[in-house]
Amino acid sequence: MYYPEEIVEEIRLKNDIVDVISGYVRLQRKGGSHFGLCPFHNEKSPSFSVSQNKQMYYCFGCGAGGNVYTFLMEYEHYTFPEAVRTLAERAGVDLPEAEYSEEMKRQESRRAQLLQINKEAAKYFYYLLRRPGGEQGMRYLQGRMLSAGTIGKFGLGYAGKYRDDLTKYLKGKGWRDELLQEAGLCTIDEKYGTHDKFWNRVMFPIQDINNRVIGFGGRVMGEGTPKYLNSPETPVFDKSRNLYGLNLARTSRAGNIILCEGYMDVIAMHQAGFGQAVASLGTAFTEGQAALIRRYSRDVLLAYDSDGAGVKAALRAIGILRAAGLTGRVISLEPYKDPDELVKNLGAEELQKRIDGAENSFFFELRVLERDFDLGDPEGKTRFQQEAAKKLCGFAEELERENYIEATAEKYRIGFEKLRKMVNTYAYTAGGASAGESAVRPKTGQQRKTSPEDGAKKTQRLLLTWLSEDAGLYRKVKRYLAPEDFTTDLYRQVARRLFADLETGSANPAAVISQFADEEQQREAAALFHTKLPLPGGDKREREKAFHDILVSVKTYAYEQDSRRMERDTDALNRVIRGKKALEELKQTHISLD
Ligand code: GTP
Ligand code: MN
Repeated sequence: MYYPEEIVEEIRLKNDIVDVISGYVRLQRKGGSHFGLCPFHNEKSPSFSVSQNKQMYYCFGCGAGGNVYTFLMEYEHYTFPEAVRTLAERAGVDLPEAEYSEEMKRQESRRAQLLQINKEAAKYFYYLLRRPGGEQGMRYLQGRMLSAGTIGKFGLGYAGKYRDDLTKYLKGKGWRDELLQEAGLCTIDEKYGTHDKFWNRVMFPIQDINNRVIGFGGRVMGEGTPKYLNSPETPVFDKSRNLYGLNLARTSRAGNIILCEGYMDVIAMHQAGFGQAVASLGTAFTEGQAALIRRYSRDVLLAYDSDGAGVKAALRAIGILRAAGLTGRVISLEPYKDPDELVKNLGAEELQKRIDGAENSFFFELRVLERDFDLGDPEGKTRFQQEAAKKLCGFAEELERENYIEATAEKYRIGFEKLRKMVNTYAYTAGGASAGESAVRPKTGQQRKTSPEDGAKKTQRLLLTWLSEDAGLYRKVKRYLAPEDFTTDLYRQVARRLFADLETGSANPAAVISQFADEEQQREAAALFHTKLPLPGGDKREREKAFHDILVSVKTYAYEQDSRRMERDTDALNRVIRGKKALEELKQTHISLD
């Protein structure tokens, strides 16, 4: 913890969430909650709810949720300590100096050292590129049409011919082998001792949004494999939560973000005047990256390669963007392979035209889908229409769904009423909607198959939500339940805290959230308490059965996981021995919700 937990909690209690959020969003009271238009995604009807009782907010449209701290972090792009300081001031609470635990100080200083090493390495590569020995690298970059200004702006560099150049240099500056290795800059093996990871490549330093060098990509000059070599993940380099070029793109005034696949694409686009271009880091686009983009823009244009792999990657990215509440459009690069080549051949003006004409991501998906069917054949046509109808179920908001049904009907010449009927049929059946869940599946546009882990996580979420609202129920079932039954670290941590709270009184979800220092974790923890309970207000017997099913399912999954691990893990073995009996007993036990 950065600030003492009691202070964080005191400040939270002194800032009523409805008051704070009312400063940003117009809220209307409806039942026990306040509703408004979600500030975190585009919507026309209010699905953003703020609960005074729980001191939390949640959007049923995009899944954003949290307490008063996470709201400021999301809305104002504050870090957690910044949010704490702002709210402390608002409530007139004096803050003590920030406190670091010993462990935190150690970690911080290690991270600081790794960042320092990366910075020195980047400066060294930069120097090597401009020195006489760096001509080959400079020629390569110039051959790719990069200006001196662009090369400087992106801090491009060169790793020379020797395998231990950088290692020697950094060791000469007093850094230990072990740290160089942790920074991912060198490798230690028996034959060569400590040697460089990167040599004979042009170097692309990768910076976080605060312009700190967190890793590198290195490209061979010409043919060779691997074409790009990237730093491994390190304590300062999380590939799923950073984007290449975002440090520059964040201040672009374009009003959108262009997502590319490659470093060179980003650089070529910036050089052509498109300062809003970013790329993922040699791995597929992730939810964490979507969340990062969402802080700066809601409008994302995909400039992925036009080949098969690029289309596949674009389809995945579209699903992730949609789940994060972002709108995606797809830029056509035909007949070129990627944005770099398009700009080089057709120029910036043409690229701007392509951006203006970018295709709505839903229609892009349909167009790709269409390729699998023969629309000239009644059979193929029917199946295509069915698939399209299924996809249309993904729009949770009625107005939006109707608009898409209308546009799709027109585009593919299907009768509007016919298509609408098909969509409604699927919404109740094929969409997998079950009792209590909304008929039209929320959030993602894709019909994602749920894996067993996803399913297990979902029941674990339901159980935590349910228990957090009913301390009496917790007491009834606590003999069957342990934090270890929750199978991800985050859920376990939440359960541990929640159960301790329930033991002594009532749950305090808003406080649980500020336990986590990391923003993503706070969001995930917030979502835990906003899972929609099945059959709200429904028949009591049905609710009891639902609860019993959930509990048994969580226990069964935990038991299966433990069984799989018990050979290696004696704790798991012990739990299996106890767990089997408890599970049998639980299955026979009636748990009343009175
Ligand atoms: P250029 O050939 O330099 O124009 O590359 P590009 O920018 O067109 O990139 P490409 O589409 O070939 O690849 C996109 C991204 O994938 C690159 O920026 C790298 O991050 C990553 N990548 C490409 N090739 C490799 C590889 O061989 N290994 C790894 N780990 N990553 C790669
Ligand atoms: Mn390329």
